[in-house]
Amino acid sequence: MIFTVAIDGPAAAGKGTIGRAVAARFGFRHLDTGLLYRAVGAKGGDPVAAAEALVPGDLEREGLRTLAAGQAASRVAAIPQVRAALVEFQRRFARAEGGAVLDGRDIGTVICPEAEVKLYVTASAEVRAHRRWLEVGGDEAVVLAEVRERDARDMGRADAPLRAAADAFVMDTSVMSVEDAVARAIAVVERRLEER
Ligand code: DC
Repeated sequence: MIFTVAIDGPAAAGKGTIGRAVAARFGFRHLDTGLLYRAVGAKGGDPVAAAEALVPGDLEREGLRTLAAGQAASRVAAIPQVRAALVEFQRRFARAEGGAVLDGRDIGTVICPEAEVKLYVTASAEVRAHRRWLEVGGDEAVVLAEVRERDARDMGRADAPLRAAADAFVMDTSVMSVEDAVARAIAVVERRLEER
């Protein structure tokens, strides 16, 4: 069976948690595509060369989850040649036999417009910054400023900007529990699987 669940949305909206839970529930593979851009940003040097030379082991490196790595990822992600170098790997992952969940910014719009399920997961900047701050600590105002800066860059870039696909199911998790958000996402996937 070829079946793709595309999950897009801004930083700390809950894409990763929902993506992992959906993949576990249906036995699908899961790819956190933000890690690709984080690994490219962390390599240093020429980002286009880094993207072209990326190997799966690069995604296991330490330190890819920090705020600084997120900012570096957002910067290299605005370079069209970096994005182009990562398209094929993501498309192959999405359409391989067995079902796949990909979370990122452009999965339903660019990487896999034919995805069987598209979710756009969002929440207010304040709520997302608070969640991120609970994980990383430090000054919450600085975390909020970083979230806003990254949103502006990811939504404002010319190539594959973050936006909901026209046919995406939009979920605002600002006042939703994790359990609720996961249950809703699973219900959407289940409905689509039954239609086939
Ligand atoms: O999901 P994340 O916070 O790990 O993503 C880090 C950055 O990578 C994000 O700010 C923008 C970029 N990114 C992207 O441009 N396209 C994707 N599909 C995933 C991430």
